[in-house]
Amino acid sequence: MHIEIHPISTAKHKIEPASSKLAMAVEFGNSAVVIKYGTVLSFVMVLLAYWLRPPVRDTLDGRLDTVLSSLLRAERKAGLSDFARPRVAIGFGGCVDIIVDGVTLLNKVGLEPSSQPLHHDYIENAEQLAQSFAYFFPPGAASERFVMNDTLFSQLVEASRELPGNRWSLGGNAAVMASRMALEGCEVLLGADFSPELTDVLPQQITVVGNVVEEPDIHLILEYPSGATWGQYTSKRANRFIVHSDDHNPYLASMEAFERKLKDFHPDLLVVGGMQMMDNFPFRKGEREALLDRLAQLLDSSSPGMGVHFEMASFVDEGLLSELLRLVLPRADSLGMNEQELPNLLSLLRGGSVTLLSDPNPRVATVLDQMRELYRLVNRQRRDSGSGRPLTRVHVHTLAFQAIIVTRGSQWKNTMSATAKASLTANRHVCGSPDINLSKAKLILDESFSVSRREGSQRIPLQETRPVSCWHEDDYEVCVAPVLVCTEVYQTAGGGDNISAAGLVLQI
Ligand SMILES: *[C@@H]1O[C@H](CO)[C@@H](O)[C@H](O)[C@H]1NC(C)=O
Ligand SMILES: *[C@@H]1O[C@H](CO)[C@@H](O)[C@H](O)[C@H]1NC(C)=O
Ligand SMILES: *[C@@H]1O[C@H](CO)[C@@H](O)[C@H](O)[C@H]1NC(C)=O
Repeated sequence: MHIEIHPISTAKHKIEPASSKLAMAVEFGNSAVVIKYGTVLSFVMVLLAYWLRPPVRDTLDGRLDTVLSSLLRAERKAGLSDFARPRVAIGFGGCVDIIVDGVTLLNKVGLEPSSQPLHHDYIENAEQLAQSFAYFFPPGAASERFVMNDTLFSQLVEASRELPGNRWSLGGNAAVMASRMALEGCEVLLGADFSPELTDVLPQQITVVGNVVEEPDIHLILEYPSGATWGQYTSKRANRFIVHSDDHNPYLASMEAFERKLKDFHPDLLVVGGMQMMDNFPFRKGEREALLDRLAQLLDSSSPGMGVHFEMASFVDEGLLSELLRLVLPRADSLGMNEQELPNLLSLLRGGSVTLLSDPNPRVATVLDQMRELYRLVNRQRRDSGSGRPLTRVHVHTLAFQAIIVTRGSQWKNTMSATAKASLTANRHVCGSPDINLSKAKLILDESFSVSRREGSQRIPLQETRPVSCWHEDDYEVCVAPVLVCTEVYQTAGGGDNISAAGLVLQI
């Protein structure tokens, strides 16, 4: 298929034709204008640009500065009104995160770097933990595994408690998204089994429904910076490996109370996340499917005017994934995911199997092609089966950039501002500060990106004053924003949830 790009003429963010040798058809209304660039002309332009270029260092600083102020301006263009705070219901679960430096913890418990990087669906002993870490740490791919050995998990938690520099924070997809949305001004209903202490640390605008438990679930977050070493292994980018041994979250035990409360809460948006806590959990036969069936009914009984967002996660359990694909995904209008989760989901939709590891630093063109395919496949399946809601929104967060596609004429507003906000949130979260410090930021997106891997595809230059590029294709709008990548990492865990939630807030 040929991808035709239609600049959005009403928006200020017009696509400027790139100075390439390609012939491009840029359509304005009905009249197509074909612009051809001669090789000679672009050569002259490159030379001219080279001469006019100030010293590298200045350009870089000035460039970052302009990108930041432009992103901030784009974010501010769409604010929440104080009169009508969006109402968001979020399920399910939450936990306490203990955040430690992964390599320091493994050294402390005396775990030697495994010479055999291996992936395991779940972890039964220390050797499998070492092999799993050796598998995901070098490429720097986010991953999350269930530990099916209480002794081992308690040992790890105890060791983490004693580790200098450890931190505790609220965790779990649903709970983190709930906090982010509350902090951004939404009224939030969260379905989770929490202890009173955990409920106390939540922002006020969150109402928690679910069972009160004494000991909330604990997740152990093994963070590592870019370039960290563990024996013969070096991490290519900052990320984390998460292990947990949940007792409450996999059962979605708050679902009933959540459903009862939902009727009066009248949410504008319902968010479903935290489903990966069911991944490789030792359920009794049929138990998991029954839970997801209940969830499907809950989604079906919700009003059609209410949007449903599903947040993907690091899934490896094919049984769980196929149930999610059958029962939950078709009931969502909007999907959020990272660069690992996108190819994984796509592979399953194409009838393939789980992909464990994908490029942790994919190009824009690759991700956009995958998003287009996801959008088309899902919507075709839904049309063919005559059931489910059309998929009208996909948000993919990667280290280098944010990309959102939204069906034109759907309920989602402010896509350009939402993409900018998602991008800013990535830096704020990873650097651990709401104020972005440019000495801790860098752009890793190239000067321009291609909109598709197809030969002859248009390139879009990254313009510092208009860093968010938006355009129309088919029946949807695409927006891409570069991320000011944080170079002094405070925390990566919870990044995707904060980013996804921040993007959603402006689109409700
Ligand atoms: C569980 O972990 C403990 C502590 O590391 C270990 O001694 C034990 O062998 C493990 N159990 C199994 C079934 O692997
Ligand atoms: C992300 O969410 C967590 C949990 O609510 C919070 O502690 C953290 O500060 C958030 N990050 C940002 C950038 O707000
Ligand atoms: C920005 O980051 C640099 C490098 O870490 C630090 O020295 C400086 O104090 C920070 N500036 C502010 C305003 O926090």
